[in-house]
Amino acid sequence: MKILIINGPNLNMLGRREPGIYGQESFDSFLPRLQSRYPDIEIAYYQSNIEGELINKMQEGGFGNCDGIVLNAGAYTHTSVALHDCIRSLQCPVIEVHISNVHQREEFRHRSMISSACRGVICGFGLDSYRLAIEALTVKM
Ligand code: DQA
Repeated sequence: MKILIINGPNLNMLGRREPGIYGQESFDSFLPRLQSRYPDIEIAYYQSNIEGELINKMQEGGFGNCDGIVLNAGAYTHTSVALHDCIRSLQCPVIEVHISNVHQREEFRHRSMISSACRGVICGFGLDSYRLAIEALTVKM
């Protein structure tokens, strides 16, 4: 099984960016721990601050090159019709993830442009949100 984790804008700054909200750990330090927890799953990672690059990467993975995508679209979550359309077009499921509980925050974060196109949404569990999304993709019903 291959899962692609995609992080959007400003998530390259994890550990340094508003640590009171997003925590002290960088994604680069978290990722190997996540990967070693799931030795049977190939977990690939991509980050970009650029909307179109996120779409290019999802299109690359979403047509047979991976079994699921875990997407933290950052602020594009709240604005991007292009991401919504992209997710709808893919052949693999996409789980929307947020580190913070966006519903406890500013009102503009309460609306997601992508939730309705995603398989499900996980938010508010810190970096553990990513692990929960992998669990959601691998669970056998
Ligand atoms: C975020 C929440 C978004 O509102 C914000 O713009 C981010 C990070 C999260 O992981 O909590 O960049 O997606």
